[in-house]
Amino acid sequence: MDDNRSIPVELADRSYEIVIADRSRDDFAAFVRRSLDRSWGGRGCKRCLIVTDRNVARLAGPFENSLRQAGIEPERIEVEPGESTKSLAAASTVLDLLVDLKADRHFAIVALGGGVIGDLAGFVAAIYARGVPLIMIPTSLLAQVDSSVGGKTGVNHPRVKNIIGAFHQPSGVWIDVETLQTLPDRELASGAAEVVKYGVIQDLNLFEFMESSARRFLNRDRSVLERIVARSCAIKAEIVSGDEREQGGAREILNFGHTIGHAIEAVAGYDGRILHGEAVSLGMIAEARLAESLGLVDSHVGDRLERLLNDLGLPIVLHNLDFDRIIEAMRRDKKNRNGRIRFILPRSIGAVEGFDLDDIDAIRRAVDRLRPRT
Ligand SMILES: NC(=O)c1ccc[n+]([C@@H]2O[C@H](COP(=O)([O-])OP(=O)(O)OC[C@H]3O[C@@H](n4cnc5c(N)ncnc54)[C@H](O)[C@@H]3O)[C@@H](O)[C@H]2O)c1
Ligand SMILES: [Zn+2]
Repeated sequence: MDDNRSIPVELADRSYEIVIADRSRDDFAAFVRRSLDRSWGGRGCKRCLIVTDRNVARLAGPFENSLRQAGIEPERIEVEPGESTKSLAAASTVLDLLVDLKADRHFAIVALGGGVIGDLAGFVAAIYARGVPLIMIPTSLLAQVDSSVGGKTGVNHPRVKNIIGAFHQPSGVWIDVETLQTLPDRELASGAAEVVKYGVIQDLNLFEFMESSARRFLNRDRSVLERIVARSCAIKAEIVSGDEREQGGAREILNFGHTIGHAIEAVAGYDGRILHGEAVSLGMIAEARLAESLGLVDSHVGDRLERLLNDLGLPIVLHNLDFDRIIEAMRRDKKNRNGRIRFILPRSIGAVEGFDLDDIDAIRRAVDRLRPRT
């Protein structure tokens, strides 16, 4: 398994570097300068705004010191933690501050936090002055393995999640897995669902590594965390490099577990009752069962997936949700074509393929298998 600590994201003149940092060896100040110096806006950067939330703000001190060393004067804004902060209102508050600070196109945004902060701060960086440099310091596992790679930024509309947004690639992403020590257990497990997803779609070795290291992962063993974060970033970086704006179809395989997962999330509401990774865990199991019923894989794939997700502390059964509404939500999915529901299904662990399905009964039976066995 490749566990390189510096992962290049190749996107022509928007290329950048993801560093899996070792504090004793790597220097954040040098990284920031090197990252910013790649662009016109970044080269003249002397000031920045750190956007963070109240759960993560205590990590900001050492970064502020390093930024000063790099010749960049940091300001800071702390927003409320949680999905409701991914709003136009919150973006507007950050934009107000940038105007107050007389920020110009050489002013950088530093996103310090989970996926909510990355998406919000990234969106502000995309639209302020038609785009200012962005440095990401993801602090949740989900943000480290998923949302900080790929350049999607945005906020929610009160009725539609992630509908307001822009593509804006960061100048650099700095990942320190030590930040995960304070992440709540449920949030850690939620991020692990995306790691398992990368294993199923592309990397049997990563899947097997998760199987053999589940306990060390839950104990937040640094070397295990570094290895899975590095490998996950490399997989996502390679996929998005081939389809930067989600137009070529290559990114589509990232949706394994998400057709049913998104429907579960939409029906549950985004109030934290079911976290994204928890919904993806359930979605991956149901979609593996669907693949089994269509004869695409043999049944040990679903069983093996279920065992691993369970070992990682993720849900494998679904209580108290309206199963009819889950099917209905899938029928409204914007990725559907001609009334058929689009799925990414496993052919083995490490390989997936896209299918347009209209066999609602088969889909319903697969979702039904998430009901607790009595
Ligand atoms: N842009 C993308 O490509 C992309 C991809 C996947 C998900 N997302 C988005 O990411 C968001 C979810 O991200 P998330 O799961 O990181 O949520 P989040 O940012 O809400 O973080 C989860 C919780 O953990 C806390 N937290 C974060 N880091 C911490 C740390 N080191 N110590 C203690 N607490 C910490 C946060 O304050 C929050 O309460 C969603 O809005 C989703 O739409 C975006
Ligand atoms: Zn996801």
